[in-house]
Amino acid sequence: MAHIYRTTIWLDGPAKEHFKTGLCYIETEEKEPHNILIDRVSKQYIEDRFYNITCSNINFVNNLGLSKDMLLNGMKENKNDSSMTSIERNFLFNFVKKIMPRKVMEFSPFRGFSTAVIASSLKEINICPDFFETHEVDKENVKLTNFYLHENNIDFVKVVEGDVLQTIDKEKLKETDFLLIDSDHSDEFAKNYIKQFFPLLKNGCWVAIHDISHDKHFCSGEARELLTYFKENNIFTYFHVADLMKIFQVVGDDFIYSNARNTLLFWQVSK
Ligand SMILES: C[S@@+](CC[C@H](N)C(=O)[O-])C[C@H]1O[C@@H](n2cnc3c(N)ncnc32)[C@H](O)[C@@H]1O
Repeated sequence: MAHIYRTTIWLDGPAKEHFKTGLCYIETEEKEPHNILIDRVSKQYIEDRFYNITCSNINFVNNLGLSKDMLLNGMKENKNDSSMTSIERNFLFNFVKKIMPRKVMEFSPFRGFSTAVIASSLKEINICPDFFETHEVDKENVKLTNFYLHENNIDFVKVVEGDVLQTIDKEKLKETDFLLIDSDHSDEFAKNYIKQFFPLLKNGCWVAIHDISHDKHFCSGEARELLTYFKENNIFTYFHVADLMKIFQVVGDDFIYSNARNTLLFWQVSK
């Protein structure tokens, strides 16, 4: 009897152009599809993506007391929120509960989905933050964020309209406990926020940065700038959510997606 096997492969060569991510599902009647497809799979790619833990300091991660449950359970899913994977959203929600920040900054909210995750987490532990400011350049998104926060009974977030490089309150940034960065993903913008904002962050501040893929096949300009900054400054106090998925053996569609391009990185400033 012929068996149908389903497998995920990386296509090199001409076929690659037809698949945006380079990943596709193949159905084959061959008994051992991997043997047949192995020539088309870049071994290095598979190793990079599925096996290598990219956080450079596993002891740092082990000592944080994280759990698999933090990835699997969290805030109720909103079908309109496709910005983060459910695993990333769950982890963000649970991690904020764990670190209990009282001074929060974000750029940028888009329509307020990530803002609401952080704010709902604070509400669950009865924290009304000293400040929670989020910066958005698009007028329409400012309105939508305010609307979404109102709908979710969140009244302690100030949505600041304008280019965050101009609008952020640098005195507040110096006091910030938790900063979420998910904005313009260009290298130019990243260079600017790294240069202008990072030296101001206090010891112990947690920074979450979204859309930072460590995978060299999908590495954005922003990711390159950030990883170069970490390297040049000998920073090892960070991890990707994709690392946690490997450590806690959480597999699913999110695993492929998170490892491909949408990886959320957490860094604790250490001075
Ligand atoms: C990827 S979206 C944010 C998604 C959001 N964090 C979420 O998870 O739902 C990026 C947002 O950054 C905003 N943005 C881009 N450049 C900006 C800038 N210089 N200052 C402020 N906001 C900016 C865009 O208008 C867009 O709404």
